[in-house]
Amino acid sequence: MASEKVVETTGLLGWVDRRFPMTKMVKEHMTEYYAPKNFNFWYFFGSLAMLVLVIQILTGIFLVMHYKPDGNVAFASVEYIMREVPFGWVIRYMHSTGASMFFVVVYLHMLRGMLYGSYRKPRELVWIFGVAIFLCLMAEAFFGYLLPWGQMSYWGAQVIVNLFAAVPFVGEALSTWIRGDFVVSDATLNRFFAFHVIAIPLVLIGLIVAHIIALHEVGSNNPDGVEIKEKLDANGRPLDGIPFHPYYTVHDILGVAGFLLVFAAIMFFAPTMGGYFLEANNFIPADPYVTPPHIAPVWYFTPFYSMLRATTDEFTWALVAFCILFAIGLFFSKNTRGIWKIVWPVILIAVAVLLRVFDAKFWGVVVMGGTVVMLGFLPWLDKSPVKSIRYRPGWHKLLYAIFMINFIILGIIGTKAPSDLLNLTSQVATVIYLAFFFFMPIWSRLGTFKEVPERVTYKPH
Ligand code: HEM
Repeated sequence: MASEKVVETTGLLGWVDRRFPMTKMVKEHMTEYYAPKNFNFWYFFGSLAMLVLVIQILTGIFLVMHYKPDGNVAFASVEYIMREVPFGWVIRYMHSTGASMFFVVVYLHMLRGMLYGSYRKPRELVWIFGVAIFLCLMAEAFFGYLLPWGQMSYWGAQVIVNLFAAVPFVGEALSTWIRGDFVVSDATLNRFFAFHVIAIPLVLIGLIVAHIIALHEVGSNNPDGVEIKEKLDANGRPLDGIPFHPYYTVHDILGVAGFLLVFAAIMFFAPTMGGYFLEANNFIPADPYVTPPHIAPVWYFTPFYSMLRATTDEFTWALVAFCILFAIGLFFSKNTRGIWKIVWPVILIAVAVLLRVFDAKFWGVVVMGGTVVMLGFLPWLDKSPVKSIRYRPGWHKLLYAIFMINFIILGIIGTKAPSDLLNLTSQVATVIYLAFFFFMPIWSRLGTFKEVPERVTYKPH
């Protein structure tokens, strides 16, 4: 039997170590966690996401001390925090800026994962926990946005909860059940408060812990997509790895410093960010009798909101055509084998029929939810022989660029009032988004790939 290395700590630490694996954990996750030595700028965003989480929890605790989840006084209690509570405005602006910056950081963190193929084997679960975190984050932001009880809070929640009414058969009952009333009301505010303050944060923290445990089990990927565990030194340590602490703790301090500068600049000089972080309409108390002329969600939801709005009745015809073509393609494809030659086309034709049976509004909700959930399938959709974008053909890079620009266009359209031209643009953009993922198993294996080096590329500086 291999002998276990005994942890020889003394004093207070020794006392703790004999009762709780403190030193063992610090070693496993910090001083003896070997991370690739070629991390770059993109690797700041994981630790920054943790920083924003801490900011949100701490500021949230102080906000809850003064906030009142009651339809009659919620708006006034936020005004009280802003005007009367000592430094209340700092706390509130930290929390509202933090909400948007959370999404900035997480979107960049996800983009990094896509560019370097960090979702590929063996990191599928790291990615899936990530997608679950993203869904939770969206729920957390949505519930939180109702709390200031301004016009946008109220009508934004009204619009989104009404979407559930589009679910066939049970929709009306479902949306009433979610609201706890026939319209968004005090009952809705109370339950959203409960979800925002305790339920979702608990799930979020659990998922983040699982995300890190899964990552540390398999080890970090890197900009080259080379597995550093495959080249070990005589002591069994990765040749291209360096201990996370002190190297990356120090490296991350640089990211934190840069980030806090940007964060403070926004918080002190542009907390509303021209209406993108805090909307002008939300400084008006909620009024169930006055619908604002243009209801738009906060910027981080707008790409998905655009895809919801793009799904009109005519657009479902395009989806029907897509399903039929896909069914024919799968039937004749050499890669579809055995029973799947029948099963996939039958499923797709059934979806095509249902697309015309149920209301377009319902399919809008399905598209909106599906475009997020679809990200979770990325590990199995991407068949490229290399992980990192660095070693993919030039036109793959172009496709990723188109995908990103397309996503930004969807985001911009989602902030605007609908018009014929914008609707058509969002429909084209939705097709591009869907096609990028649906056809990935085909396009990701095509082209001339560059040879991946045996060891990570690294220039000492
Ligand atoms: C609150 C949100 C999140 C936190 C606190 C968080 C935290 C972290 C941390 C600390 C790391 C290691 C450092 C790094 O690689 O940057 C990491 C890695 C990773 N995260 Fe997240 N994450 C979050 C959300 C997400 C989301 C939404 C996704 C994807 C949908 C995701 C996917 C990944 C992947 C694939 C890795 C491994 C990257 C690699 O090794 O190249 N994470 N995360």
